[in-house]
Amino acid sequence: MAKRANTIFVCQECGAQAPKWVGRCEECGAWNTLVEDRPRETSAPVSTAGHRYALAAATSAARLYDEIALEHHARLPTGIGELDRVLGGGVVPGSLVLLGGEPGIGKSTLLLQAAANMARTIGPVLYSSGEESEHQIKSRGERLAVGSAPLYLLAETCLERILEEIARTRPALVIVDSVQTVFSLKLQSAPGSIGQVREAATQLLFAAKGRNVPVFLVGHVTKDGSLAGPKALEHVVDAVLYFEGERHHAHRVVRAVKNRFGAVSELGVFEMTSTGLMPVPNPSKLFLAERPENAPGSAVLCAMEGSRPILVEVQALVSTSTYGNARRMANGIDPQRLALLLAVLEKRAGLNLAGDDVFVNVAGGLTIDEPASDLGVLAAIASSVRGRPIAQATAMCGEVGLAGEVRGIAQAGPRIREASQMGFTRCVLPDANIDPAERRALAGQCELVGVRTLAEALEEVLA
Ligand code: TYD
Ligand code: MG
Repeated sequence: MAKRANTIFVCQECGAQAPKWVGRCEECGAWNTLVEDRPRETSAPVSTAGHRYALAAATSAARLYDEIALEHHARLPTGIGELDRVLGGGVVPGSLVLLGGEPGIGKSTLLLQAAANMARTIGPVLYSSGEESEHQIKSRGERLAVGSAPLYLLAETCLERILEEIARTRPALVIVDSVQTVFSLKLQSAPGSIGQVREAATQLLFAAKGRNVPVFLVGHVTKDGSLAGPKALEHVVDAVLYFEGERHHAHRVVRAVKNRFGAVSELGVFEMTSTGLMPVPNPSKLFLAERPENAPGSAVLCAMEGSRPILVEVQALVSTSTYGNARRMANGIDPQRLALLLAVLEKRAGLNLAGDDVFVNVAGGLTIDEPASDLGVLAAIASSVRGRPIAQATAMCGEVGLAGEVRGIAQAGPRIREASQMGFTRCVLPDANIDPAERRALAGQCELVGVRTLAEALEEVLA
């Protein structure tokens, strides 16, 4: 039977290929995700020269480790301190950076600001957008007070045209606003399909490496929070930054989830104003700004975000469940972790929560995923159950184990100092982290209370 060799079907979720259409991807089990595509060339050409996947500047012969000169990547500052921090101290020339986030969260705004700054300081910048016209970008630029700078705007979705413009304008930075709108003439599938997205990212990667120019790609995320057309992209790029939280808050958090040239989980905090995204120099102040006074169910925990300590408020509400099956909802912490912590609270601290709804929320839309936040979460819940507030000037941190023990945490020093600087006079932390020298240094300013068990900790904070 003759088979149509030039058609394959590609899953838009995981990139798996199938020779015929099926309703459910056999690799990842997602429904209705297969899309018709053209297969990749199977017989590889003997010479890679001119092949579209050949690295432009690559030397084909292997070289000895010792013979390779060490290049110091002078990082290019974007002119936005918080963005530089997330990138690990500026953009590395020749790197491909993916910026993901929900629609309307500020991806285009942030990159246009960075583009304008860099056009002024390091040279021409090409801002290619497949979503807005040049006029729309310019009117946004006027709001952002971009001023005069060699900033080229290009409203284009054809990958080959974008590459041509890169060759023509020789920019020092390229921004491609939404990789999902870009299509290559070499593929027949629609823009946004996994084949097109992968092709665009690969070709732009070669442009970045070949010309030693940094390239920023904007990527949309789908409703469930993953990047549309996705995992394939995260492997290709050098760094992945995400806008976290919701666009209903005035402040925005950018987090690095992958960075070949810097630390991950570094955090940048911005505030959306009428003149663009402004860096927030003191995030703790921002996250504690609306903390209610003497309200049960509110605790302040010292979290570490990358290299930066941040104080955040965690709120809990425990109320009697009216419908029989108790609900547990977590916003900003892992629901699995919450279930585990609730079990520990019942068994080890003797609180009965069986018939209660438990809601936990990290104020300000931040997501906290380190175990050192356990103690704060549990204190907030216990405070709500007992109806007793936690003293306003008490901050806490500590991991809680299944036996109800409070375990030592990493980087206690910076957390304590941040709490002290923010005016907290009492810090409850694992006994293992108490350093006598630190205690003496902070005497009179911030009292350090070491605890060994959850019960002990609750006694201290709910006194
Ligand atoms: P935008 O950068 O267009 O989002 P994305 O590219 O991620 O889809 O951000 C759009 C939102 O930001 C929009 O709701 C308006 C708001 N905004 C401001 O509040 N101030 C500003 O100066 C700008 C440019 C946008
Ligand atoms: Mg946009």
